[in-house]
Parts: sequence; C-alpha cells; structure tokens
Amino acid sequence: MPFWARNDCVAFCRGSSGVERGPEKAGVGSSILPLGTLMFIDTHSHLNFPAFSEDYPDVIARAKRTGIAAIINVGADLPTSKRAIELAQKEDLCYATVGIHPTSTNNLKDEDYQELEGLAQKKKVVAIGEIGLDYFHNSTPKEIQKRSFEMQILLAKKLNLPVIIHNRDAHQDVLAVLKEKEVKKGVMHCFSGDINLAKKVFSLGLHISFTGNLTYKKNEDLRAVAKEIPLKKMLLETDCPYLPPQPKRGKRNEPGFLVYTAEALAKIKGISLEELGEITSENARELFKL
Ligand code: NI
Repeated sequence: MPFWARNDCVAFCRGSSGVERGPEKAGVGSSILPLGTLMFIDTHSHLNFPAFSEDYPDVIARAKRTGIAAIINVGADLPTSKRAIELAQKEDLCYATVGIHPTSTNNLKDEDYQELEGLAQKKKVVAIGEIGLDYFHNSTPKEIQKRSFEMQILLAKKLNLPVIIHNRDAHQDVLAVLKEKEVKKGVMHCFSGDINLAKKVFSLGLHISFTGNLTYKKNEDLRAVAKEIPLKKMLLETDCPYLPPQPKRGKRNEPGFLVYTAEALAKIKGISLEELGEITSENARELFKL
C-alpha cells in the first residue's frame, strides 16, 4: 500500500522533522464558529483517500459548519484522481485535481498518461497535482520522478491548469524543473522551507500553502516565514487525513479542522479571522478558477 493510502494520522507529508506529539497547546483558541459567518477554502484535501470512504458525507457536513466553502480533493494516482472527480460530481463544494504523486510514478506507462489527460478534462478538475519530487521516501528513482514531474507539467501547460507541487527534501531540483519548464501558475503545497525558498517560489509567480504544521509548537521557524511572506500569495490547506493541527494531534485530520491553521495564520499576520478567510479564499478562487 502506498504511504498516502494508509488510514492512520502519522504526518507522512513532512515526516519526523518538526513534528512532535504532546499536550494540546498551540496558542489557538476554540473554534466553534457560527455557520455562514466565515469562509475558507481547503485547497488540498484527500477525501478521495480510503480514510474517508465510510463517512465522507459527515465530514463534509462538519466542514460546512466551520465555514468551509470549498474543498479541493487532490489525486495521487489514477484511482484517487478518479475518486476525486467522483466526489466533485456528487458534492457541490468539492473540486478535484488529477495527478501522480512522485512516489507512485514507478511503472507508469504511456497509456496511464493518456488516461490522466482524459481525466484532467473532466468537469470541476481545477489543477494537475499532486506532482513533484520526493527524496524522503526514497522508493522511486529520482530520474523516474523527474520525468513524470516534467510530463505532468507539460500536461498542465497544455490544458492551462495550475499545478499542485509536492516537494520533500528536493528543494533545489524542484525549483530547477519549475524554472526550466517556466511554470507560472501553481502552489507549493505543505510549505515547510525557509524564507529564501519562499522568495524563490514567489519569483516564479507561484503560491505557498500552509497546513496544520503551522500550529505545531516547535514550528517557530515556519511561523517566522509566514510572518514575512505576503498574504496575497498564501493559501490554506489541511492535507487531511494527514497533518492534523496541534489541538487535534493524533486524530484523523479533516477539512473542518482548517480553522485552527487559519487562526494561527491570522494571529501571525495580526488580522481578523474573517479578513484572513476573505483574502486566502480570493487567492484560491483566482488560482483555481473556482
Ligand atoms: Ni497531499
């Protein structure tokens, strides 16, 4: 089973670095928000993964109650890309992306890319992703990952879609590919780099998105980066079922928990939660044409 298909809530996305278990304290307040007063968009969610197959309608209902206006379910291979499209067809607030995660790029055939191209043209598909390079899991040769990343970038450009980029321990190579292929629309998901990387990402015209890891007690460095970078370039995401925010550590993450990350970011930026919701949602609507 690929790592992303597992049901547990270990933070696969960023792994052990910066991740700590412990008491639920992160300086974020309580978050039972009245329906309709706030608006957030979860720009990277995996309700298309097995972790949600039983109860996704309840999860979506809870998300609505915390002010989630849209959920983008991100594909990681062909089956999960198809499932994301299925959910988008069934559920008003769901959108889909299609793509092959770098750790699933081994053994892909030309037919698979053709199928992906067909899926990318379905209704409510708003991006190609998640694609990129993952040198942490080390299960797929770098050259294979790179070729697949490049092919999917070409597909995104052909269809004029933004890309959702997965970058794990591969900063330099990811940047090099993005530059070489002149990628101008997309997001570096689950950002955990430093300010220099953030600046390089912006100079390409790309966005940065934050997950629950922004709320982790030991992630002062990431909060310092968030303080410096412009709101206009920021998106919010859960990457659920992974990376639950601090008050939900150890639990399965879900879109309704996005508000904890939003609260942390609003505090860092010194603005209201409402304002943060408006700006980040506008950014998401613009990038993904929701
Ligand atoms: Ni993801």
